Amino acid sequence: MTHQSEITALLSDRLRVATRSTHQSVDQTIMDAKPFENLAAYGRFLCVQHGIHRDVAPLYHTAAIADLIPDLAGRLRLGAVEQDAADLGVKLPTYLEPPASTRSAQLGVPRALGWLYVVEGSNLGAAFLLKYAQKMGLSEDHGARHLAAAPEGRASDWRRFKEALNRVKLSEAEVGGAILGAQAAFARVHQLAHTHLG
Ligand code: HEM
Repeated sequence: MTHQSEITALLSDRLRVATRSTHQSVDQTIMDAKPFENLAAYGRFLCVQHGIHRDVAPLYHTAAIADLIPDLAGRLRLGAVEQDAADLGVKLPTYLEPPASTRSAQLGVPRALGWLYVVEGSNLGAAFLLKYAQKMGLSEDHGARHLAAAPEGRASDWRRFKEALNRVKLSEAEVGGAILGAQAAFARVHQLAHTHLG
């Protein structure tokens, strides 16, 4: 019975369940660093956000994935993170190596979907982060652009992304690949948080 429900479960639910504990530990690591206490700490948080959005950015321009997820290119938030850093005079790191999501030539669509699930899902939790940022005087137009909701609202934007994700036909092995992609993305955020937030 469990086996049956696992097979029929939606991909988005399987990704959420598979990454629940790593999401909690990422939340904890980030919030423990008190990124909304002052602008210097927020600047370091922006470096984490820049790192993960830069890592995933090439996927938003990949035709095989754009065919599956409508409005994919419009979802990219890397430019907003860079603008936030410019607003606040934060110097972002310069990376010499290619983005993590594309470092493996064998990434493939299932793993890419796992990476995208993580970065798109982070916009849901960003509702809370935006409130904290606003208490520091930041806004969707200054310093916290990348935490802004989509014009149609966070919940319905996320629902549309999940519907597209869940329409993709994947074999069990490919679902396993998507889960590995999501876990790799969270592991990358964790690594970035350790690097920038200590
Ligand atoms: C860059 C770091 C982060 C990433 C990559 C990330 C990723 C995600 C993902 C994938 C989801 C969607 C889960 C699902 O429903 O399938 C999510 C939701 C959520 N995240 Fe995060 N998250 C991050 C940081 C944080 C932080 C620091 C907090 C701390 C408050 C947080 C709080 C939440 C909350 C409360 C939700 C659920 C929102 C809702 O259901 O309305 N996240 N996040």
